[in-house]
Formats: sequence, C-alpha cells, structure tokens
Amino acid sequence: MGGTAIRIGIAYDLKTDYQGIAPSTGPDDLLEEYDSPETVEAIADALGECGHIPVRLGGGRAFLERMLAEPVDLVFNTAEGWGTRSREAQVPALCELLHIPYTHSGSLTLAISLDKAMTKRIASANGIRTPEFVCVEDLEELDAVALPTFPLMVKLAGEGSSMGIGSRSRCANIRELQEAAAELLRQYSGAVIIERFLPGVEVTVLVMGNGAARVVGMMEIAPRLGSIREFVYSLEVKRNYRSRVEYHAPPRLSGPAIAAIAETALETYCAMACRDIARVDIRIDADGTASLIEVNPLPGLHPEDGDVPIMCRHLGIPYARLIGEIVAHAEARL
Ligand SMILES: Nc1ncnc2c1ncn2[C@@H]1O[C@H](COP(=O)(O)OP(=O)(O)OP(=O)(O)O)[C@@H](O)[C@H]1O
Ligand SMILES: [Mg+2]
Repeated sequence: MGGTAIRIGIAYDLKTDYQGIAPSTGPDDLLEEYDSPETVEAIADALGECGHIPVRLGGGRAFLERMLAEPVDLVFNTAEGWGTRSREAQVPALCELLHIPYTHSGSLTLAISLDKAMTKRIASANGIRTPEFVCVEDLEELDAVALPTFPLMVKLAGEGSSMGIGSRSRCANIRELQEAAAELLRQYSGAVIIERFLPGVEVTVLVMGNGAARVVGMMEIAPRLGSIREFVYSLEVKRNYRSRVEYHAPPRLSGPAIAAIAETALETYCAMACRDIARVDIRIDADGTASLIEVNPLPGLHPEDGDVPIMCRHLGIPYARLIGEIVAHAEARL
C-alpha cells in the first residue's frame, strides 16, 4: 500500500497471558477485554500486506523488555493492560517514556475513556447528550443517591467488552437495580454506574483520522428477537451475534437522524482528543435525539467478531485497509 517499510511492533495482551493471574473463581468474562491469537495474527498479516515488517511485542513486562532490547519504528497498540484503573494507558505511557511513536489515542484519552463516568462528564461539559447517571461503590450508597428515572442501566464504571453486561443490566425498578448492582459489586472490582436507559435504536460509529476526523461508517445493532426498547447488546448477545443480532450498515434511519448521530460521534471524538480511530456507541433517546453511551478508542479488532471489522465487511472495507489506515494516521506523527 505504498510508503516506506517500517518495523511495527504489535502491543497486545492475550487472554492466555492472564489465565494464571485472574482469580479462577470469578465470573467467566473477567478476561473478556483481552485478545485472542487470531487477532494478533490478522493484524500482523495486514501490516505485512501493507508492506511493513510486523514484530510481536506482547504486553506488560515482555513488551517493555522487547522494546528496550530492540526498539521498533512504531507501536501498533491493542494492549488492554492489567490491574489498574487506567490500565489501557500503560503501553501508551511506556511508549511516551521511551519516545517511541504509537497508534491509537494517547495515554490521557485511554485512561479517561475506560472510565464511563469521566467520559460522560467530559461529554456533558461539551454539550454532548448522554444519560444522567450516578456512581456507587457499595450498595448502601444506593439509598443515599438521587437516581435518574427508571428504567435504568447498571454497569461496571471502569470496564469494557461488555464485561458484567447481561439482560439484567436493564432494571425496571429498585428491586431489580439492587440485585443487579449487588451482583456487579460482589463479582468485580470498582464502582458501578447507573444511568437512564436509552430505549431507541442503537448505532455504533467508526470515526478515523486526526485534525479532519471523519465518520467512516455507522452500523445499527438491532435484536433479531424482541423489542429494541428492552434490547441490551450484552456479552451473551455478542457471543451469539450471528443468531441474536441484525446489523445494518448504514442504519435504517432518516437522513437527519444519521446526521445527528454523526455529529454526536465526531464531537465525542474531538472532546476526548481521540487519535487515529475510535468506535463511538450511541443510542436514540425516547424523544428521538442521539445520546452517547460510551467511546472505545481501542476498539476490538478480532477479524471476524469485532464490531469494527463486522462494520467494515458491511461497508466493503478490507481488513488490511482498516489496519493500513490506522497506521497511516499514526505515521503522520512520525
Ligand atoms: N444507558 C443505556 N441505555 C440503553 N442501553 C445501554 C445503555 N448503556 C449501555 N447500554 C447497552 O449495553 C451495551 C454495552 O454497554 P457499553 O457500551 O457501555 O459497555 P462496554 O462493556 O463498554 O461495551 P463494549 O463492548 O462496546 O466495549 C450497549 O451496547 C447497549 O446495548
Ligand atoms: Mg460499548
């Protein structure tokens, strides 16, 4: 795909890297954020197709040791990090320390976007609509906070990949909320966020670029069974997406609705200072307006099952072109 061949180190964390560290008694999605070998192979193949030299760096200490031993020209970052609230910022921060350029957003953006409440505060301050919310760290606090109106969505405030998200995450009343929140607080670490449930169409938006960032595509995520009003794109639904979900790219929405979603996605991307690529999750509210759920500056890149690769297939964008474009945006910083 043109340009000079450079050595691109892939930073990644595999589920198998953490199997010994994660408590074996926990829920089965504790390692959901981590990648599988197919993703690393697909990225390496794509980098090769683009004329670059892929180098597998891994994550954590192995990443650091390999970087110190033989630095690369650019790091392709997919590493989720481990163990801290801003874990996704670990590899970017190390790259910054070592003065090695890297793809995707900077450490600041990755630290904030992993925190759904922080993200929503920034979005709100920039005039972006996002449901009212509260965060609690233990169950007693539920009695003390002023909850938004039911139905409510309850989820982990500091995780992604639908960890902890199931059909019970949508709560119709206080009893359901107490049960779902108690379950999350018992099984995972960190706070839970409780926000108003958006009952309308769900769309995920692929934004790419810097300076003149653009919406590359949008994909509606619709349930095959049941009403959108109760639909949650949960872990169980994602794991069975072929039978549970209908994807529509472009979404089955009017021109003005699509334009409003694009605007929300681009404003979020800019407000969060995203770089190169991000996937912005948006849902339509009861009054028909677009509202932000969250932003994913390290979107999953599994070649078959990742939302971005699924969307790219619908849009006719080959996987290697997607990876090549991420690299091209990062290379502009070299
Ligand atoms: N406030 C809300 N109203 C309606 N649905 C919601 C809301 N928050 C989350 N959801 C549903 O739950 C799904 C997962 O939520 P969210 O995107 O916040 O979690 P995540 O774990 O970060 O997901 P991802 O897999 O995109 O990283 C959404 O795609 C949506 O279907
Ligand atoms: Mg999401």
